Amino acid sequence: METRLVQATDEEMGHAVEAACRLLEAGEVVALPAETVYGLAADAMNPAAAAKVFEAKERPSFDPLIVHIARRSELSKVAQVPGEIAETVDKLTSAFWPGPLTLILPKQPELPEIVTSGLPTVAVRCSAHRVFRAVCKAFGSPLAAPSANRFGRISPTSAGAVMKELGGRIPLIVDGGACSEGLESTIIAIEAREGKKPLFHLHRAGPVTKEMLQPYGKVVKVKDKPGDVPHAPGQLPSHYAPATPLVLLDKPGDFHPEPGKRYGLLSYRGDGPFVELHDWELVEALSPGSGKLAEAAIRLFHVMRVLDESGVDCIVAEPVSETGLGVAIMDRLRRAAAER
Ligand code: TXA
Ligand code: MG
Repeated sequence: METRLVQATDEEMGHAVEAACRLLEAGEVVALPAETVYGLAADAMNPAAAAKVFEAKERPSFDPLIVHIARRSELSKVAQVPGEIAETVDKLTSAFWPGPLTLILPKQPELPEIVTSGLPTVAVRCSAHRVFRAVCKAFGSPLAAPSANRFGRISPTSAGAVMKELGGRIPLIVDGGACSEGLESTIIAIEAREGKKPLFHLHRAGPVTKEMLQPYGKVVKVKDKPGDVPHAPGQLPSHYAPATPLVLLDKPGDFHPEPGKRYGLLSYRGDGPFVELHDWELVEALSPGSGKLAEAAIRLFHVMRVLDESGVDCIVAEPVSETGLGVAIMDRLRRAAAER
């Protein structure tokens, strides 16, 4: 299959949206830019179209898709909002939608089972990206869209990265430039509590941080016990993985290079003790010079890809501080470093 690439510049936007909608209406899949990462979208209400998403990504059928809506008023098409959490859902969606927050809610019976992998719940979000929103609005119905990478691989934050992941497997990629957040959305489930603020079960750390959520509820991390079925089925320990082995170090002293092996460093600022530690084949910085977590988040998957394609034998990553966005960055680094 030939994969077409269309630009979503201001002049070409109308054409790009129309091309995407035509394919979606025909039950096809289309890669679209979100503010987080590029997504592979299909008509959420069409089970055959959703099946094509699983096929193109080689995604196992037990890993449910996130459903995207164009506006808050469409929520009832895919999800139910139980009375006891209605006020909280209102507050959260007013504060963070459109934007990178995904809510896990009871699913609407009309939503095909394949989208939620048979779960009674659905993960819903409303993207803030102008292209994603325009397509979602013009299509007029919810879109199921996981990240546009092959299963377990690094999420794409540019159209070029989607082409490398899914080129030849999908008919169209809409190029909306580089993603402005660079990490997948934050995922929470809400639990009401008598006389207390609700609990937010954090299924995936992301751009909407714990600090940002705290005014609305108490954030608790969902932990899997070893051997459990993962709580968010896609949150397997090994995920976002480059093909090259990646080790995440706690401190410089933990590095013991093997003779003859070529190492690349995934550095935070591009300077400091990790950089001086070794004669690295290549050093790639997440936030060159300045050390800003927001910049590091935007660049993380791009930098992982550059190191992965550089031909080094091993990628060594230095840690970032685990506050604010650093929580989501460390989550992705740990998964990239996990045993496969
Ligand atoms: O930023 C994002 O969320 C991007 C863009 C494209 O919107 N999408 C994305 O989708 O990251 P995906 O499929 O790569 O990640 C969705 C995660 C998976 O780990 C999946 O297991 C989990 O959400 N998930 C989906 N439905 C769920 C549900 N009902 N309960 C728990 N976890 C769910
Ligand atoms: Mg993904």
